[in-house]
Amino acid sequence: MINIDEVLSKLTLEEKLKIVVGVGMPGQFSNPPSKVTGVAGETHPVPRLGIPAAILADGPAGLRIDPTRENDENTYHATAFPIAVMLASTWNKEILEKVGKAMGEETREYGVDILLAPAMNIQRNPLCGRNFEYYSEDPILSGEMASAFVKGVQSQGVGACIKHFVANNQETNRMTIDTVISERALREIYLRSFEIAVKRSKPWTVMSAYNKLNGKYCSQHEWLLKKVLREEWGFDGFVMTDWYAGDNPVEQLKAGNDLIMPGKVNQVNPSRKDEITEIMEALEEGKLSEDVLDECVKNILKVLANTPSFKNYKYSNDPDLDAHAETAYKAGVEGAVLLKNESVLPVNKDTKIAIFGTGQIETVKGGTGSGDTHPRYTISILEGARERGLKIDEALAEKYKKYIKEIREKEEYRPVRHQWGFLVYPKLPEDFLSEEDVNDTAERNDLAIVVISRISGEGEDRKLIKGDFYLSDDELKLLKTVSREFHSKGKKVVVLLNIGAPIEIASWRDLVDGILLIWQAGQETGRITVDLLTGEVTPSGKLPITFPKDYSDIPSWNFPGEPKENPEKVIYEEDIYVGYRYYDTFGVEPAYEFGYGLSYTNFDYSNLEISLKDEVLKVSYTITNVGNKAGKEISQVYIKAPKGKIDKPIQELKAFHKTKLLKPRESEKLSIEIPLRDLTSFNGKEWVLERGNYEVRIGESSRKIKLKGVFTLQKEKRYSL
Ligand code: BGC
Repeated sequence: MINIDEVLSKLTLEEKLKIVVGVGMPGQFSNPPSKVTGVAGETHPVPRLGIPAAILADGPAGLRIDPTRENDENTYHATAFPIAVMLASTWNKEILEKVGKAMGEETREYGVDILLAPAMNIQRNPLCGRNFEYYSEDPILSGEMASAFVKGVQSQGVGACIKHFVANNQETNRMTIDTVISERALREIYLRSFEIAVKRSKPWTVMSAYNKLNGKYCSQHEWLLKKVLREEWGFDGFVMTDWYAGDNPVEQLKAGNDLIMPGKVNQVNPSRKDEITEIMEALEEGKLSEDVLDECVKNILKVLANTPSFKNYKYSNDPDLDAHAETAYKAGVEGAVLLKNESVLPVNKDTKIAIFGTGQIETVKGGTGSGDTHPRYTISILEGARERGLKIDEALAEKYKKYIKEIREKEEYRPVRHQWGFLVYPKLPEDFLSEEDVNDTAERNDLAIVVISRISGEGEDRKLIKGDFYLSDDELKLLKTVSREFHSKGKKVVVLLNIGAPIEIASWRDLVDGILLIWQAGQETGRITVDLLTGEVTPSGKLPITFPKDYSDIPSWNFPGEPKENPEKVIYEEDIYVGYRYYDTFGVEPAYEFGYGLSYTNFDYSNLEISLKDEVLKVSYTITNVGNKAGKEISQVYIKAPKGKIDKPIQELKAFHKTKLLKPRESEKLSIEIPLRDLTSFNGKEWVLERGNYEVRIGESSRKIKLKGVFTLQKEKRYSL
């Protein structure tokens, strides 16, 4: 243990300034590389006092470091886990904790101190380019998933970083956009998930978001960082900026943003001074008091004193990648969501299968940007099918292989280097097979599988165009041809959605018999997919977001803000009506609702009991597997409030549970406790629970309510902030 006050008294002013500003992007511009190459940032060391540099690396789908180093034959691969939205589709806290643990171990064993994850912004709009990195449209689900993940990471002796605080719900003009939100929507939706994570899992660090919140940059927002985060929620770690966020380091320190990352902003924006100089000048001119600086230094040092680097931990560079591959697989098989199944899945292993779509070979393991990973391998869908011994049409697979190889040689389809270094693969036309080809393939096979893939990443939102939110003409043509040829021979068609965020499905789903949403499942994608298709594992994922029928149905209609050509401001006019809160309250039919997901077995819900004691609502019920396959069920507890003074969504998720693996005829009795305070609404000053009859609705999804009961609150309740 170090005595922070003593260390503080020994630090020179120059050393203090260095502690609150990162060293600059390691290995970029003229900066020396980190000893762990490919990390996102480092703090300044103070060797004189035995304070080493702390190393910070992304991200949500796995530790993002360079897999190879110059003049070094060793490799430094990290596991590519399923993307966050897929992890949330498991609704399984234990799995999230295990994934967190595995990432935490890789973080520690590769010499990194803080993992820049989880990303936990609310999925407000289906087009946000980073939705794949985020958990859900619901704050309870997001908060619970994040808490479990943080616990796992930090159990390994390294820090987690919950990000991006707050309301970073779009990428368009993310560094300047002013996000205008009512305090009620903020507190009930956007802050709520962070509040849960801070209170439950005590993350070491928080990353303030790029955007402005009601006129002020989040990193310069004292109300957000001091009043809400520290005073109300009791956060006692440190806050760091997102990379090059905000426009004033002095205001950042004053607002309670302790660490400015990555440092040396002048390297990317020559019109700015470097942060250390700017803070120094403010101190000299009396615009900043040294007490403010000291407070930030203390917050940072308290956390850094717990890092492996500080403890001089001898890391191995040899984390257990095989065990973590297993964890990634287990998370993936629980996170895929079966959307449609008209007596087609699971498939028998003797079924002759024709796989269509370039995504069978160029399978997307995850998104781009800081949410990317560099694993040892990615098992494509085709490789997974071969490895698991499926009887696939090899002649067709060969055609795809040849097609991809040839077309990728052409100028317009060659992978191009993105300005941030990663390769972008232009989308390939999917309609290269002739009708005869498809017809012949339908003759020789029993089933068609069509893979549809998408990829996105930070810095840019997805587009409302064919080939992104909508199927491209060539994808649709392929789907139509395959569907016609196979169906005319009495054979079925299954679509695999290898995507990171919703696409439009309603207009084409009648063409096919089954749809399995495999998301972007990381390095094990192929194995995960095949084991679900064959029923080796029963699908048990459910949607953590709504899939709208069409984009015109969504509540966040003014995304990404105004003016349209170059938005400066985005007003969250839908207020608290985010996701299912909107669709369910206003009777808008989605393609697939929040909480939806099919299984290969069926579950019965029974014996609902409700009791209210002191401040806690107790709900218990029984789930029984009444089908003939083993499976897990996710049940959801929604509360419908009485009509009162405060306008409320028709129902809100307050708790959820995933059963253990239930064998046919096996039951699990669940007992869930919900503090009454969790049922309140914010009235502008305090949390209120109005009197009246509350309906407890136990659903297999937000729209399939299986059990209902009522409890009555005789008197209104109020809780202070
Ligand atoms: C992203 C963060 C990330 C950071 C460091 C930023 O562009 O918004 O999520 O942690 O870069 O890579």
